[in-house]
Amino acid sequence: MEHFPIVTSLVRVALGNDSERLNHQVQRLVDALVADGDSTQAAALSKLLNRRTRSTELAPSRLTRSGQAPTHIAGLEQLHPQTAVPVDKDSSAPLATIIMPDDVVTTLPLFPAPVQDNIDALLMEWMNADRIREAGLSPSPSLLVYGAPGTGKTTLALWLAQQLGRPVVLARLDGLISSFLGTTARNLGALFAFANRYDCVLVLDEFDAIAKVRDDPNEVGEIKRVVNALLQNLDVRVGRGVTVALTNHEALLDPAIWRRFEVQLAVPKPAFAQRVQIALRSLDAGEDNARAEALLLAWVADGLSGAELRTLATKYRKRRLFVDAAAVPPAATIAQVADSTSVHIGEDVLSILRLEPSRQLKPLHAAGFSHADLAYLFDISTKTVQRRVTEE
Ligand SMILES: Nc1ncnc2c1ncn2[C@@H]1O[C@H](COP(=O)(O)OP(=O)(O)OP(=O)(O)O)[C@@H](O)[C@H]1O
Ligand SMILES: [Mg+2]
Repeated sequence: MEHFPIVTSLVRVALGNDSERLNHQVQRLVDALVADGDSTQAAALSKLLNRRTRSTELAPSRLTRSGQAPTHIAGLEQLHPQTAVPVDKDSSAPLATIIMPDDVVTTLPLFPAPVQDNIDALLMEWMNADRIREAGLSPSPSLLVYGAPGTGKTTLALWLAQQLGRPVVLARLDGLISSFLGTTARNLGALFAFANRYDCVLVLDEFDAIAKVRDDPNEVGEIKRVVNALLQNLDVRVGRGVTVALTNHEALLDPAIWRRFEVQLAVPKPAFAQRVQIALRSLDAGEDNARAEALLLAWVADGLSGAELRTLATKYRKRRLFVDAAAVPPAATIAQVADSTSVHIGEDVLSILRLEPSRQLKPLHAAGFSHADLAYLFDISTKTVQRRVTEE
């Protein structure tokens, strides 16, 4: 059976009675079916999933987790939204933000199966630190996430913390850097001391900011001190809780920093199957109503990040509110939005969208769009589509 690994994960999660992860595994199966072109099966599953998500969202127990809740680390205090965070002594700016598990309900970004499998495996380990200790190994829950801007890194970190039921201490490292390097090292120390005192997930956003400091030739000695301070702080944090570092510029990080992280996860830009799902989520109209639009947006968004695709889909939704849907077909609005966005869309895609509508049909059909989808998108009959795509 082709998708047996997903079915195995599904069954495992179902037995663990964790509704968010169960939803996620079903979503994976839907993605895989979409990728295979089994859209009817995908739509049927997606409908079940939507119904289930709606009903579980209403249940107040959504954030309570059964059985698998990670154990409390001895000696750590509980964070509260009012807990005072350390500040930069010179500017009085806070060095971090506290995000409580109930503050945001994040959904896991849609990643390709291998990335997803890694995330599942990681979470399993983090949730079962006791078993790792029993096996004589030491849990060192740390993760470095790297990838292009807007690929879901911050969202993933917040989602992981939410799965663990722990608050996040979120620090942007570029915000810790002071023009006085001595202050930078002191800020780092204060941040880590704070995170190590509480039961939390420490998220270090813009992690490469420290590495950038290092490249400044004017301050070599001082900069070394800052990088060393970071390395030492990371070492001390082992055993005190989960640390997640996020960066867009992994090439700037040196091997000593890489080594401090147990897992390094590359998040890619979404492939077509994920883009269809992201577009569907953004269109918020249910699989049946928005499938063809989602397919076209996903095709247009080749090479874009998830965040860029969301921007595009949201623009499309806004535009559709103010057009006469009977007179302007969906494809015309998508072409218009694609042509007037700051998001960088491929020239090959734009050159097709800039053709007369009747001349777009043939290349889109060649790209895999069905007659029915094209009929819907261009608001013409399937017969007309058929004629146009076979015309010389
Ligand atoms: N693969 C994806 N699936 C679904 N949504 C996505 C995906 N990638 C990005 N998004 C959405 O795009 C938005 C921005 O994501 P996020 O801020 O997590 O990206 P990031 O990688 O941290 O970006 P940056 O590098 O600019 O900080 C979020 O709303 C997120 O849900
Ligand atoms: Mg981010």
